[in-house]
Amino acid sequence: MRAFKSWYEDAGVRVGPRRRPGDDLDKKFFPEHLIPHLGHPLVQDAPEELRRYLSAQHLYQWLNFTAEFEVAVVMRATQQIADGRSGVPLARELRRDAMRICVDERYHALYSVDVVDLIEDSTGIPSLPYDFAPFLAHLDGVGDSYPQHRELVQLLQVVVFETLITSLIEDVPKDPEVMTVVRDTVRDHAEDERRHHAYFAVFFKELWAQLGSSERELVSRLLPEVIIRSLQPATQAARAALGVAGFSAAHTDQIVAESFDRTSVMAGIVVASAKTVALLERCGVLDLPGARERFQNAGFTTVR
Ligand SMILES: [Fe+2]
Ligand SMILES: [Fe+2]
Repeated sequence: MRAFKSWYEDAGVRVGPRRRPGDDLDKKFFPEHLIPHLGHPLVQDAPEELRRYLSAQHLYQWLNFTAEFEVAVVMRATQQIADGRSGVPLARELRRDAMRICVDERYHALYSVDVVDLIEDSTGIPSLPYDFAPFLAHLDGVGDSYPQHRELVQLLQVVVFETLITSLIEDVPKDPEVMTVVRDTVRDHAEDERRHHAYFAVFFKELWAQLGSSERELVSRLLPEVIIRSLQPATQAARAALGVAGFSAAHTDQIVAESFDRTSVMAGIVVASAKTVALLERCGVLDLPGARERFQNAGFTTVR
């Protein structure tokens, strides 16, 4: 497709430089407004060094999450598309583009952990162990009652995730207070993802056109939860970092509960998924009987 015409000249894996920490390591690891627990009163009053530690861990967990997600979720489904096993007949060039996406995602996974390693070495702040398994189990759990549709659920996961636009991708590259290696890494990633976004918008149209009425009904039932589970912030890493930083178990519980409250989490999900929901709207997903109400009941307040 057109978005991939200049892949050999533009893709990060083809032409991007390796990003390394520079001489601005005194800058922030991550924009503070994107670290929910950092704004909590108990954390706001903490010494600066401790807040820096929490910021570093937040960056690490995001990079570690990205590295795992790209391979376990994005490549899992995209490889099926590339191999012609997705159940959606696609022209050869579109299957090759899916293979190019797999190459991109593998590279994103590599540089995500590479940046963790380099920042660890430069700052001396070690990354806490990261466990992706609970997130993946929760995400895949959407389809647990429909084992015969496991591949379909995996395709929905990738369509949703690849068409989301998180504030993180938007805000980090522009934030002059954040260290350059982090801003450059996120910018590199966002540039490749723009291509992927275009691809998966086309792919979803093709997928939807293939589905029979009972599968369409199922898809419209599953999608709100797939979106929510894709974007729900994992609190486990914040919890671990707060513990190591010296907060008591009771304070950690309080900070996490109050920083990741349902209302603000859902508000963030609605914003990040606006483009995805618009795609579903264009394809007619919300026109199925009851679909609009299901999105509204799940908390998608912008669906009318
Ligand atoms: Fe990626
Ligand atoms: Fe992607």
